[in-house]
Amino acid sequence: MKPVVSYLTEDRHPAVVRTLLNRQAHMFGSDATIDAYVEDAGDPAFDSLIVTRDNRTRGVILTRRRFPETVEVHLLVVDDTVHRTGIGSFLLREAAARARTAGAKMLTVRVLGEGRGHQEWAGVRAFYEANGFIPLDDTGPAVLLAKHLPERQDWEDGL
Ligand SMILES: CC(C)(COP(=O)(O)OP(=O)(O)OC[C@H]1O[C@@H](n2cnc3c(N)ncnc32)[C@H](O)[C@@H]1OP(=O)(O)O)[C@@H](O)C(=O)NCCC(=O)NCCS
Repeated sequence: MKPVVSYLTEDRHPAVVRTLLNRQAHMFGSDATIDAYVEDAGDPAFDSLIVTRDNRTRGVILTRRRFPETVEVHLLVVDDTVHRTGIGSFLLREAAARARTAGAKMLTVRVLGEGRGHQEWAGVRAFYEANGFIPLDDTGPAVLLAKHLPERQDWEDGL
């Protein structure tokens, strides 16, 4: 079976992030939104993970620790030619492992609500729910979802 990724790095590559975002620009609304994410990709306030497969960058996740207890997924984007091959889930698992190791208890994300954005946002929400996130709040333009990060001992006990 083909491995999900061949290389994982914590390096920052804003130009590569721009390429990934431009290929799916319809998901991100405007050039200004993409410019802001590209700027964030070079900002040390965000933790960055980038994966490579077949010598091409295939996905990036930016996370931010807003509070000691929580880490927020700020951006997760996978190369559209390799969607549904496990790369997004791999990046989420890696980010969750790092957040847990750093002492965080919860991973959160905001996803545009159905009917308030492009139809594809329903798929993005399905992706997070398939990865163990549950919805917490839908009173704003985005749905807030969260996933509990078990203590290492609970995790090893299978809780
Ligand atoms: C959302 C995204 C990151 C998912 O990454 P991915 O690598 O394609 O997802 P995975 O292969 O790990 O998917 C795991 C599971 O999530 C669910 N899932 C993923 N995409 C889905 C979709 N479009 N519709 C419904 N379920 C979906 C499925 O259960 C899938 O398992 P399966 O393929 O065996 O059925 C990717 O589609 C993407 O980059 N989208 C554009 C950018 C974006 O919208 N990012 C979110 C902003 S934070």
